[in-house]
Amino acid sequence: MAVGERSRNPLRARSSAEGAASLRAAGARERDPTVRCPDGLAREFLGGFNVTSLARHRFTWPLLIRAATRRAPGTYPYLVARCHLIDEILLTELRAGLQQVVLLGAGLDSTAYRLADHLRDVRVIEVDHPSSQATKLSKLRRIFGSVPEHVEFVAVDFGHDDLGERLAAAGHKTSAATLFIWSGVSMYLAESTVVAVLQWVSSHESSRTSILFDAVWAEAVDGSREYFGAHQGRRRAAAMDEPLRWGIPEGRVNETLARFELRAEAIYESADLTARYLVRQDGSTLGQPYGSGFIVHARSVAEAEPEGRAI
Ligand SMILES: C[S@@+](CC[C@H](N)C(=O)[O-])C[C@H]1O[C@@H](n2cnc3c(N)ncnc32)[C@H](O)[C@@H]1O
Repeated sequence: MAVGERSRNPLRARSSAEGAASLRAAGARERDPTVRCPDGLAREFLGGFNVTSLARHRFTWPLLIRAATRRAPGTYPYLVARCHLIDEILLTELRAGLQQVVLLGAGLDSTAYRLADHLRDVRVIEVDHPSSQATKLSKLRRIFGSVPEHVEFVAVDFGHDDLGERLAAAGHKTSAATLFIWSGVSMYLAESTVVAVLQWVSSHESSRTSILFDAVWAEAVDGSREYFGAHQGRRRAAAMDEPLRWGIPEGRVNETLARFELRAEAIYESADLTARYLVRQDGSTLGQPYGSGFIVHARSVAEAEPEGRAI
């Protein structure tokens, strides 16, 4: 993935991380609190003049959603629902005794700052490509005056660096209960890179360690099957120099995870996300999340107890 490259069109988000943050920021302005995106800090991470600026103002945020829905149908509701789900699983794991949270490919994710009060006794590490991390650090300095001390930053290129070595140098312990959050990243990586990350996660010694990540169906990557929003999503990813590269064949999540000695505790597809997070108080829905992706919470085979649908 061309992490360092940025679109030259000023009307586009400069990166997919910024695009995602802008839609979370817009979602945080939803009137109905049941579907409102919990990322009330996202708008602070936006800056400069491009289409994402629309999310920063109370009169223009609906225009951003309209534009995003036209360009990549299903992305807005998907991102709002994903944000709710990540918060829910993180808080559940914290109650169960979590000791470390590692955000892999953190981008402009604000979880570590929004939920800082809950994370006081936990080691929090943000891992990202060096160029994305430099951007994040300068935004954090602008927002908070300095980089918040409760978060450690580890610069890693998943395709070239040894993730385990870099994290160990930052004090990460493979024996401590850890939640890895890997959102919006796996689909942009080469298969060998995804394999290396998942194998390393599953080699952790703690029975409470798990990974929450999203992925797309392999059929959506190669276009051999159509899903809601997939065609436009592929085109948009390619236009941002971030083409989709890796996916799991439909219906083979557990078979794929078993290669890494991982097992899905729960898998959340479009309909699950809608039912859990996107139904307004009046019964209408915020929208239909795109159908080419899903979110999985997985743990090492020896420990997982299925609680969701196994597909
Ligand atoms: C779409 S953004 C997602 C950001 C964030 N996790 C979120 O959900 O909003 C993709 C992130 O993956 C990171 N990334 C992509 N390729 C990477 C690589 N080879 N090594 C490290 N990070 C990478 C980018 O730097 C970026 O922060």
